[in-house]
Amino acid sequence: MTKQHIINYLGLKILKSTHPKVRKIKRTQTGHSAHGNKVWRSSFALIEYLDNNPLKQQSKVLEIGCGWGITGLYLTKNQNADVTGIDTDSSVQPYFELQNTMNDCAMKFQQRSFESLIGNDLQNYQYIVGSDICFWDEMTKPLFDLIQRAITSNIKKILIADPGRPPFWELCDLCAETYNSEIITQKIDTPWKSEKYILAINTQ
Ligand SMILES: C[S@@+](CC[C@H](N)C(=O)[O-])C[C@H]1O[C@@H](n2cnc3c(N)ncnc32)[C@H](O)[C@@H]1O
Repeated sequence: MTKQHIINYLGLKILKSTHPKVRKIKRTQTGHSAHGNKVWRSSFALIEYLDNNPLKQQSKVLEIGCGWGITGLYLTKNQNADVTGIDTDSSVQPYFELQNTMNDCAMKFQQRSFESLIGNDLQNYQYIVGSDICFWDEMTKPLFDLIQRAITSNIKKILIADPGRPPFWELCDLCAETYNSEIITQKIDTPWKSEKYILAINTQ
């Protein structure tokens, strides 16, 4: 009965916002969310890219603006990664935990912002991933600053997926001027036919 409310994707079971368990959480919540209220399509493009270009097994990964944490769950389940998701919005955590449980994963969650991540935090990770996290003009600068802090820490690579909004292109321009970065066009056929972009910054 609930099959129609689940996306099966590369070994993951992803509950849609129409799933009864998701709706039950929604009923308990009120107020504003910074778009952490569903799974966003750019995350599927990022997962597809990571499926074709796997990280080293057992990598330590930070997913920024993780929302429901789908990319991190993919890496936990399929690439044996040790992933921590951070999101500024505490209201995403119950959805995150639900998707974690559905997939028998143990991805960790911290409620905190991009801005709060300093060198000591970043040194614990090899990769940073994020999808659909640069959607307002005022997000470009904090993300560029975070990338700068990551470059001086131990991070090997940063991957940020986006549908192609102006603040994201602004971030791509800033990175192109300063770092070894590229933009990858990623097409996907499932769960929907779509085309997204991935900013890849190689730090080493
Ligand atoms: C459009 S959603 C994308 C969620 C998820 N990455 C996905 O693709 O399904 C953007 C997420 O970024 C989070 N976010 C926004 N500003 C943030 C900040 N300054 N620090 C950390 N997370 C932030 C929001 O709370 C939200 O969950």
